Amino acid sequence: MCGIFGYVGARNAIDIVIEGLRRLEYRGYDSAGLAGVQENQIVFSKEVGKISVLEREVRKQTFQVPAAIAQTRWATHGKATQVNAHPHFDKERSLALVHNGIIENHDDLRRGLKDQGVSFVSETDTEVVAHLIAYHYDGDLLGAIQQAVAQLKGAYAVALVHRDFPDQIIAIAHEAPLVIGIGNHEAFLSSDPRAFAFYTRQAIYLSNSEIAIIKAETQHVYSTHASIDKEYCLLEQEFGEPSKGEFEHYTLKEIYEQPQTIRNALASRFVVEYGTAIFEELTFEDRDLLSVERVLILACGTSWHAGCIAAYMLGELAHISAQVEISSEFRYKNPLIPPGTLVIAISQSGETADTIAAIREVKAKGARVLGVCNVQGSTLVREADETLFLKAGPEIGVCSTKAFTSQVVVLSLFTLLMARMRHMNKTEGQEILEELLHLPEQVQTVLDQASYIAEIARKYVDYESFFFLGRRYMYPTCLEGALKLKEMSYINANGYAAGEVKHGPLALIGEQCPVVALCADRITYGKLLGNLMEIKARHGKILAIASQKDRHLEEIVDDVIYVPVSRDELAVIPVTVVTQLLAYNIAQLRGMDIDHPRHLAKSVTVE
Ligand code: F6R
Repeated sequence: MCGIFGYVGARNAIDIVIEGLRRLEYRGYDSAGLAGVQENQIVFSKEVGKISVLEREVRKQTFQVPAAIAQTRWATHGKATQVNAHPHFDKERSLALVHNGIIENHDDLRRGLKDQGVSFVSETDTEVVAHLIAYHYDGDLLGAIQQAVAQLKGAYAVALVHRDFPDQIIAIAHEAPLVIGIGNHEAFLSSDPRAFAFYTRQAIYLSNSEIAIIKAETQHVYSTHASIDKEYCLLEQEFGEPSKGEFEHYTLKEIYEQPQTIRNALASRFVVEYGTAIFEELTFEDRDLLSVERVLILACGTSWHAGCIAAYMLGELAHISAQVEISSEFRYKNPLIPPGTLVIAISQSGETADTIAAIREVKAKGARVLGVCNVQGSTLVREADETLFLKAGPEIGVCSTKAFTSQVVVLSLFTLLMARMRHMNKTEGQEILEELLHLPEQVQTVLDQASYIAEIARKYVDYESFFFLGRRYMYPTCLEGALKLKEMSYINANGYAAGEVKHGPLALIGEQCPVVALCADRITYGKLLGNLMEIKARHGKILAIASQKDRHLEEIVDDVIYVPVSRDELAVIPVTVVTQLLAYNIAQLRGMDIDHPRHLAKSVTVE
C-alpha cells in the first residue's frame, strides 16, 4: 500500500528518494511522485505507473534540492491518474505534501475550505490537508500544521516540504506508520524503516498526532501543542537488500524458502525432554498463561486463515475455547471481553490498519494482547503486550506464502505450550513435537514434486472458476488455497467447507468448474469422499491433494497430488505448499504479474 520516503542531507536527495521508493515497491502501488524546493519554488514530478516511469520524467529535469519527499500511491480516494497522484499542493504552490492513509472528515473540511474560496484540482482526500495547512499559515509553519492536525480525523502519515524552508521536511503521523532515520549529518523518513535501514539503524517512530521537523542535523518532534522528547531506537531486524536470487519471482523464492523459514520458526522454541514449547520473547508469567480461559484471535486475510487453524488447535489440543474474528468486522462490534480472555493478534506486517484498530479496542477494554508478527518494530509489536516473532525474514511478494506457514508453526508451538501447562501428558507433547520437527523435510518433499505440480497446473490453467473443498483443518486450508489462486491468477476460486456444498454451491458444479479437494484430514476423510462422489455425479472435475494412497480416492478423482502423512493439524502446511505452487504455476502460465497482483498491496494501512 502507499509508501512514503523522504531525505534531507548532502547526498542527491532526488536519487535517494527514488531509491527509497524502489525499496517500497513491493508494497503495491499505481502511481508515484516526488517534490522538493529549488530556488524557493516547489519542484515536483508525478506519474501513473511504475517508478521507472517517474524516474524517466525526473531525469528530463534538472532538480537540485537539499531535501525531498516521495510517495508510491495506492488509490483510495480518486482513480489512479496523474492529477490524483501525490504530491498535492495548496493554491499558491507554497507547499507540497504526500500522504498515506485516509482523512475521514475530508468532505466536511473540503466544504469549509471551498466556502473560503479554495478550489480543488484532484479527487483526493490528501489535497484537503495541503489547503488546510496553507489556510492556517502566517509564517509559523509548525503552528499552522498543529492547527490543521487538530482538525483532521482518520489515520494518516504525511510528509511535506515548504518553499520557505527548503532544507527541511516535515512529518505528521496519526495511527499510521512513519519512522525517521537519523544518519550522519542527514536524515531519512519512511513509512517502512526497511527502506532506509541500508543507511542507518537509528530510528524514531512517530505516533499519535506527532509532528516532526526534520533537518540534516536536528530532528524535533511536537504534539499539537508542545514539544516532545522522543526516544531513539535501534532497528533490530536484519534488513538485507532483497534479492530474487535464482528465482523468477520473489513469491517463488519465498515458497522455496519454507523448509528454512519453518526451521527458523521452530529453532530454540522446544524442549524435547518435556515435550513442550518455550518462547524466550514471552515474558508472561506462568500464572498469566494458566489463567487464560478463552482466546480471541484477530486478523485479516491470510493471517485470519492461520487464526482459524489456531482456533481449531487451541480447542482440540489445549482445551481452550477460541474464537477467531476478522479484524475489520470485529472492530465495530463493541465486543464483550470477559476476564480470562487472551487476545492473539496475527499480522505478518504488523501494520494492518483493521487489526491495529481492533487491538486498540480490546486493549481499551482491558484485555492482554499477544501479537504474532514478522516485522520487528511494527505498530503491532509496539502496541501488543508481548509478541511472538515468525522469524521468516522479509516477505516481499504481495501474496503471503512463507509467513502463513510460519504463523501456523508458531501458533502450533503456542498451542503445545498451553496444552502442556494444562492437561496434555509428556508423551503426547513429544509426539506433536516430533511431527513439528519433520515439517521442513515434508515441505521439501512437496517442493521436490514441483515439476509434477507444474504439469497438473497446465491441465487446469484454462478454467475460469474453481472450488477448493475440505473439512475440519482442511477447511481454512481451502480458504487459503483459493485466496492464493485468486490473487496470483485472477481466477474466481471459492474455498468452502465440503459439507456446505450441498446447501447451495452445488448448483455451480459442472464440467467448467473444477474442484480442488483437500483430503489430508483423517477424521473427516470418509465424509469428504462422500462429498466428492456428489461432485463426480454432477460431472465435476476433481484434483485431489491427499496424504495417503487410497484406491477409492483414485477412482473418484481425476488427478491427485500426494503429500507426506502427518497429524491433521500439521498437514495444513504441506498441503498449503502444494496449493501455493499450483497457484503460482497457473498464474505463470497465464503471464500474470505474480509479485505485484493488480489492485493489491502488501501492507494494508488503510481501513
Ligand atoms: C494474502 C495476503 C493478505 C494479508 C492480509 C493481512 O496473500 O497477504 O490477505 O494476509 O492483508 O496482512 P497482515 O498479515 O500483514 O496483517
